[in-house]
Order: sequence, then structure tokens, then C-alpha cells
Amino acid sequence: MKSLIVLTTAAGIALAQLCEHQWEGSFAKRKAGTIQTRQDVAPPPLDIQPLIVTGPSSNRIDLIFFGDGYTEDEKDKFFADAMALAMNVTDGQTFADVVPLMNFWAGFSPSAESGVGVGGRPLDTVYGLYRDGTELRGVYYDKPEVARAACDSTDACDYPILLGNDPLYGGLGGDFTVVTASPVNGPAVLRHELGHSIIDVGEEYEGGYAYFGVNAAQSPDSVPWEQWYTEPSSEPKIQRTNMPIQAYPWTLLNTTQKWSDTFTSAGTYDTYLLQFSVSGMTESSDLRVEVDGKDVGWEINPEVGVDRYIYNMKIDSALSPGEHELSFTLLNEEIEGTAQLCNLEVLEYGVAEEEFNFELKYHGLYPTFSDTNKTSYRPTNDYCTMRSIYSPNYCYACLEGLWLALLKPLSLIDNVTQTAQPDGSTKVSLDLLPLAEFREIPIPHQEAYTILWYGADENVVLEQWSNSTSALLGPDVTEFGVEVKFWSEQIRVDKDGVLVEKERYVVT
Ligand SMILES: *[C@@H]1O[C@H](CO)[C@@H](O)[C@H](O)[C@H]1NC(C)=O
Ligand SMILES: *[C@@H]1O[C@H](CO)[C@@H](O)[C@H](O)[C@H]1NC(C)=O
Ligand SMILES: *[C@@H]1O[C@H](CO)[C@@H](O)[C@H](O)[C@H]1NC(C)=O
Ligand SMILES: *[C@@H]1O[C@H](CO)[C@@H](O)[C@H](O)[C@H]1NC(C)=O
Ligand SMILES: *[C@@H]1O[C@H](CO)[C@@H](O)[C@H](O)[C@H]1NC(C)=O
Repeated sequence: MKSLIVLTTAAGIALAQLCEHQWEGSFAKRKAGTIQTRQDVAPPPLDIQPLIVTGPSSNRIDLIFFGDGYTEDEKDKFFADAMALAMNVTDGQTFADVVPLMNFWAGFSPSAESGVGVGGRPLDTVYGLYRDGTELRGVYYDKPEVARAACDSTDACDYPILLGNDPLYGGLGGDFTVVTASPVNGPAVLRHELGHSIIDVGEEYEGGYAYFGVNAAQSPDSVPWEQWYTEPSSEPKIQRTNMPIQAYPWTLLNTTQKWSDTFTSAGTYDTYLLQFSVSGMTESSDLRVEVDGKDVGWEINPEVGVDRYIYNMKIDSALSPGEHELSFTLLNEEIEGTAQLCNLEVLEYGVAEEEFNFELKYHGLYPTFSDTNKTSYRPTNDYCTMRSIYSPNYCYACLEGLWLALLKPLSLIDNVTQTAQPDGSTKVSLDLLPLAEFREIPIPHQEAYTILWYGADENVVLEQWSNSTSALLGPDVTEFGVEVKFWSEQIRVDKDGVLVEKERYVVT
């Protein structure tokens, strides 16, 4: 699906700035509305291998990983890293239901140096990936024109993904999705960033500034996911929550002095959540996290090592009315210079059950607070990967949006084959997108195709072939029609009519 490139590029201008305030660095110097494309740049030599291929690129959404910072000797590692990411986001989770609409590819070009740059300086690599400082945050690209040329050189590039050869957190949404080979964070960043690019939605987490699309409501009076309310009769009911503090310090911690800040609680909430992300820690004894001088009992996720990780600590007691102190004390002097506090926030929740529904898949109206503390609403509390990047799921509104976005440029019909029979009749066979009964890997959700055949009269259904992928047309028939409808319980509203396709063909 080559044509999509233009769409992603146009949308990418807005999307480029999503995710954790990554508007710093040279990326920000892009002027809105200009696309950095240099026609004179030759594509790098590419060795493209299929990872997950479900059909012809002409009728699939093609995602392709382009490796950066992988040397010739690391070619196998690149294909393994790319395959691990593709498998993670399709194997029983995230894109599992829609994967028959997608292909995943990996394109290797050798880099002269291994890894990604730091301190704002790219290494000698194909696309020039680098971090602004050493903090585990955005990973930017220095050579968009090379990435564009690589993408333009293949039919299999609707969504280009630059995969940096680095084991730690980092990424970026936009024209090019950037991810790293971080075992814990790579899949999380990939599915979150692809949510932005493919579904065209903004954030669901606090402290951002872009909240739009099928998962965002600016007011309870205009909610785009009403069809997904778990209890329609009790909506719109705003779940009661408040965010007394939110910050992105991105600060290196030291043992001389703790990092602390104060916030005020109204004292009218029942419980609260302390969320923060840190990097550079290896032991629970490296850091003490306190609220009002009381240790909250932080423990490191042992799988993470020095990588960045976002911790959510639900505290089942109320904050009293008035001022509180939140502090982070580094206890291990040896990791000064690497131990970092990335972001933090506190959320307070109303009285359980009646005021705030914590049920994972409950779809209602949950307030989200922006960087300027402006309220918008999202469908679920913590179910969606657009909010909780370690959740492998899209909420139902995002999943529906994903289906529609993927199906829109595709045809439900992959191929129509006509075969002349000895008696002069014609056998017509359809290949449909491999959904419903044509899936190779079944899913636990209901789906169905309805197939109707029409003869010379475009309004008369040839009943005997209904729901059959083939029909036998008599010798006198010169043209015929096919109507294919796809139904999935994961799609409730189809404003653009992407679930039905009606075509007429001439008998050849
Ligand atoms: C995906 O990656 C995460 C993080 O490493 C891991 O916990 C999870 O088990 C993986 N899931 C699949 C299906 O591969
Ligand atoms: C956001 O606004 C609410 C309501 O006015 C207030 O209670 C809260 O402290 C504010 N939070 C921040 C981080 O400014
Ligand atoms: C130590 O950390 C504190 C709190 O973040 C900061 O104010 C102070 O400048 C740091 N000291 C040094 C020497 O970096
Ligand atoms: C359509 O089917 C014909 C006959 O089987 C085949 O030759 C052709 O390659 C198919 N086209 C696509 C796009 O799959
Ligand atoms: C064709 O399949 C659809 C979807 O399963 C079903 O609703 C419909 O009744 C079927 N039509 C016939 C004629 O069997």
C-alpha cells in the first residue's frame, strides 16, 4: 500500500512531537508543514527479509524495520531483534486480531559503527540515531532523507520503523517510528508509537499535551466511544480522580541531597497512586522513595537492569488535607551520574466502587490531566497501551480505530480469478483478506464474512452462491457482481463504510 506514505507524512508533522515532551533536540527545528525530503539522496543498500507476511504488499499495510547502528557482523542480531519485536506485538496480543491485514519486514543496511549516539551526536550509522544527552528518553534521527529514500525504494513501506541497536529505553513517534532493541521497553514503545501513527490518536497518560482521536473526549457531552460503554445507562459518569502533582524532572540523583517536591491534597479522596520512572538503578537498596518522610517500599523490577522503567505504586490510604512531600533519595553513591529520576505524578481516587471504577476493562469516562492540568477524558483507567505502555492491549475504542484505519485503504478482496470451463461457463473464485474462517491462526473473537453474487442484473442476488467464495456463471453471462461484507464484534461503528465492498467485473 504505497499511497499511505503521503498520509503518514502529513499526519507525522503533528505526531512527531508526541510522547514525553520530545520536542527538544534537532527534531524540533523542523518547521511545521515542511517535510524534509531530499530527492537527490540515494537509498542505502538494503537486504529486505520477510518477518510476518500475510499477503501481497499491494493489499496489505506494510511495516518495515530499518536497522541503525548494526554493523555487518551484527546483521543476524538485527534480524533477530526485528523478529522479536514483530512477534511480541502480534503473538496473542496487541495486533494479534488485525495481523492478517499487515505485513512485517526487516531491511538491513550495515552501519560503520555499532549502537546509537549520545550527547546529541550520532555515530557513523545509516540513519544517524542518537540521544540528546545520556538520558533514556527520545531517540532522534539525523538523516531523515536517507530513511525516506530507503522507504521509497520498496513497496513494503507504509510504516517505516527505525530500530536502533541499543538495549535501553528510547523511541519517538512521527514520520518514522523510532524504537530500540530494549527487551523490556522495545515492544512497549513500538506498540505505543504505532498506536499514534496508525490509529491517529494522541496520548492517554497525564502530563502530555496532545489528546485527540477515537480515545479522547474534550467534554463528557461529546464522547467518541459511547458504543463501548460497559454500562451505557449510567454514562456519562466522570470517574472521580485528581492529579495534585506531575513533573518530568529528568534529573540525575545524588547521595548528598534528596530530590523532593511538595503538593497539596484536598483530603477528599480515598486512595492514591504514585507513578514514577527511574533509570540507572540495579537494586532496591539503591533508592528510597518517601511520601511525607515515610518509605513507600519501592522495589526494583529485577528484569530491567539499568534500563528505564515506569513504576506504579497504588497506595491504599488517603492523603490528608494540606501539604505533602514526595522525595527520592539516592542511597548508592556508585551510581551517581547514571541514576536518574525521569518523571513522576500522584493521582488521587474517589471512594472505591461508587466514585472510581478500577475494573481493568471497564469502558467509561476517565479524566486525564495534561501538562497544563487541563482535563480531557479517556475510555479506560489503565487498560490501554496509549496510557500504560506496559499494557499490551489497545482499549476497545482504539482497537476499533485500528481496524478501521487498517481496512480503509485495503480491499476486502485480494484477488478474483476467472477460469473458463469446457462447457463455456466461467468459474469465478475470490481470495478474501484472511479474516474470519480464512484466518490461519484463530482468534477468540467473533467475525464473519457475508458474500453475495450478482448476475447480469446488478440488483438480483444469485442466491445459490451466497457466502461461497466461488460461483459458476453460465455461458451467456457477460458480467457479474460481488458484494463482500465483513463483520467483527470489535467494530461497532463504521462511518466510512470500510466493512462493505461491492464490485462489478466483466467476464474475460
Ligand atoms: C513481550 O515483551 C515483554 C517485555 O519483554 C515480555 O514481558 C512479554 O512476555 C513479551 N510477550 C510476548 C508475547 O512475546
Ligand atoms: C490540577 O487542578 C486540580 C483542580 O483544580 C488541583 O487540585 C490540582 O492540584 C492541580 N494539579 C496540578 C499538578 O497543578
Ligand atoms: C544533588 O541533587 C539535588 C536534588 O536533585 C540537587 O539540587 C543538587 O544540585 C545535586 N547536587 C549535585 C552536586 O549535583
Ligand atoms: C491472483 O490469482 C492469480 C491466479 O491464481 C495469480 O496468478 C495472481 O498472482 C494473483 N494475484 C495476486 C495479486 O495475488
Ligand atoms: C452468510 O453469512 C452471514 C454471516 O455469517 C450470515 O449472517 C448469513 O445468514 C449467511 N447467508 C446465507 C444465505 O447463508
